[in-house]
Amino acid sequence: MALICEIRDLQKLARARVPRMFYQYADSGSWTETTYRENETDFAKIKLRQRVAVDITDRSVKTDMIGQPVAMPVALAPVGLAGMMHADGEIKAARAAEKFGVPFTLSTMSICSIEDVAEHTSKPFWFQLYVMRDRDFINRLIDRAKDAGCSALMLTLDLQILGQRHNDIRNGLSAPPKFSLDSALQVISRPRWCLKMLGTRRHSFGNIVGHAKGVGNLSSLSSWTAEQFDPKLSWSDIDWIRERWGGKLILKGILDPEDAIMASKTGADAIIVSNHGGRQLDGAPSSISALPAIVDAVGEDIEVHFDGGIRSGQDILKAICLGAKSTYIGRPYIYGLGAKGEAGVTEALNILHQELDTTMALCGERLLTNLGHHNLLDPPK
Ligand code: GLV
Repeated sequence: MALICEIRDLQKLARARVPRMFYQYADSGSWTETTYRENETDFAKIKLRQRVAVDITDRSVKTDMIGQPVAMPVALAPVGLAGMMHADGEIKAARAAEKFGVPFTLSTMSICSIEDVAEHTSKPFWFQLYVMRDRDFINRLIDRAKDAGCSALMLTLDLQILGQRHNDIRNGLSAPPKFSLDSALQVISRPRWCLKMLGTRRHSFGNIVGHAKGVGNLSSLSSWTAEQFDPKLSWSDIDWIRERWGGKLILKGILDPEDAIMASKTGADAIIVSNHGGRQLDGAPSSISALPAIVDAVGEDIEVHFDGGIRSGQDILKAICLGAKSTYIGRPYIYGLGAKGEAGVTEALNILHQELDTTMALCGERLLTNLGHHNLLDPPK
């Protein structure tokens, strides 16, 4: 059994265990993948200040997100097709998250449905919403999330149109997989994945198939997006969504201070500084380089969350030092899921927790609330 010390180890194992089309769906950026790469490499440019001879007993990395207590400043980000990384993937990840004490966010484009995840978990999870042209469908999705007891709605604002990911085109990505010779070879070369998939009935987009008008079987994410996602989405839509939902609302996909100011006036509870994991506007800044100006612009008015490029506890700490209240992980938990199912997600969370705690200690700090620019050498502006 491979030794797992860090998130990269889970990544290697996931790559070996998940059919290429699904692994690459999760682990690709759009076009040249510059933004996708810089999400990670820009973290490495930020240097931490080591402090010594400070009492670092009684440390805690506990905090809260939109008023909900969390075991560490991390939530599981919404990831489409997680149920293709491992059989029943969304249920497995949600169970790992709830046991660990961090929020799980279910994507609209999940394989397991809202109801299915609710039935197999015992604590409320969060639901991520894409706005589609079919408003009846959206209203029903919001109502379904409410009925399932979801405790926050996360509205994604940066995907009215899909950034092109070359790998998905090359791989002819679809769920369930279409059987070309290439995809059949990809699948049979991963026998452990196949066996688990044969043991579940969950193989297509659980929130959509059978719920949206005229959608019997959904062939591809890109064709669905092109046909259904609403290119007219505007700030005024947030009002009716907020009213229909009536609970905690998080706006995801903010990368510019002017948009952050607009978002802070909507009555939402938090924004997420995010470039969609480098999957949308290639050439946009890395999330971590966009964070300081957004915190400057709205940090007093709204909770600022962060996602993009986190691969270690050191990265989480850097985002907190730069003013994020909390962070999200997408790929780190997806690697764990692809590698080992629920146990792999737990392992990813344990790794990040331990790295965050030790890093905070080596910076001479005991509490997240004490972190700030003073913990960084030359903090980026
Ligand atoms: C959907 O959220 C995607 O990035 O594919």
